[in-house]
Amino acid sequence: MKVTIIGGGGRVGSNAAFCMQCAGIVSEIQILDHNTDLADGEALDLLHGAASLADQRIYSGDYDRAKDSDIFIITAGLRRKPDETRLDLMNRNVGLFSQIISDIKSAGMKREAIVFVVSNPVDILTHLAASFLDLPSSQVIGLGTMLDTARFRSLIANDLDLAPTQVRALILGEHGDSMLPVWSSATVGGLPLTEVPGCDSNYQRQIFERTKKSGAEVISRKGGAGWAVGATIAETVHAIALDRKQLLPVSSLQNGCYGLKDVCLSVPTVVGRGGAEKHIQLKLWPKEEQALKASAKALQAMLSKVGS
Ligand SMILES: NC(=O)c1ccc[n+]([C@@H]2O[C@H](COP(=O)([O-])OP(=O)(O)OC[C@H]3O[C@@H](n4cnc5c(N)ncnc54)[C@H](O)[C@@H]3O)[C@@H](O)[C@H]2O)c1
Repeated sequence: MKVTIIGGGGRVGSNAAFCMQCAGIVSEIQILDHNTDLADGEALDLLHGAASLADQRIYSGDYDRAKDSDIFIITAGLRRKPDETRLDLMNRNVGLFSQIISDIKSAGMKREAIVFVVSNPVDILTHLAASFLDLPSSQVIGLGTMLDTARFRSLIANDLDLAPTQVRALILGEHGDSMLPVWSSATVGGLPLTEVPGCDSNYQRQIFERTKKSGAEVISRKGGAGWAVGATIAETVHAIALDRKQLLPVSSLQNGCYGLKDVCLSVPTVVGRGGAEKHIQLKLWPKEEQALKASAKALQAMLSKVGS
């Protein structure tokens, strides 16, 4: 499986490339970046580690060389400033993003290729990609709340001294201010997480708020998120490459699940070789379902402002 990372010279793209290199599941990783020196340097640095990590082809390239990719990951974009919301970034990133989509299209792409959007605001840009690419909407996915969900699970496990991989707790909706925690189905080792001592309603409120502000916390301390987002990008790519049918909170165009339409956001989604293969409407608490609908409304309001 060949993966091209557009913006791969940057922090998020290069960290994702390293996570995919460590896992050794995809066979080819192409780094494509506006800054060609940076792309060459990152590809070379990764290639130097190949002997210790995995037998893969790793190189820098252009759109022509990218056209036979199975997955295009888009991490190109301008970074969020510490006091900037993801939506403030919107109009700064939309122009740049539209050009990238048009470059992918004009270079040509395989009919079964998947376009995987990471750049922010991710739900809005996923919607733009789904609208402009001649691909079934299941083949256009966004990272959505994958990173928020990973942060949520890892922070809870750290606080309550539990195993992060056994803590299962989803965040759905927008990758942004209107995201929502799903406590109704949260488990640890298959049992209700909310019954673990220390996981009371005060803690639940506090840990969700901390998770929501985690992106800004990392930006203010080290300039931008990298490793965790790289890990969640790799997790999604591996679900596609291995046709895992994992239920993941990726973003994709909604077509009726929870009554949502014409908006990209995260609902429980089966991810496999076809991309976002199926949305599954699992039972939520009424207040969770209301919050999901409110998140969709907030995103639709933002979409109506694109370009204005
Ligand atoms: N969805 C998420 O959960 C999530 C998490 C973290 C960051 N992000 C987003 O990822 C994006 C990248 O963040 P970063 O920290 O890697 O930024 P960065 O500045 O380190 O990297 C961006 C890269 O994009 C390249 N680039 C710019 N315009 C380009 C173009 N037209 N074509 C090809 N490459 C181009 C730049 O040269 C740079 O190397 C941002 O939009 C950020 O908000 C998303």
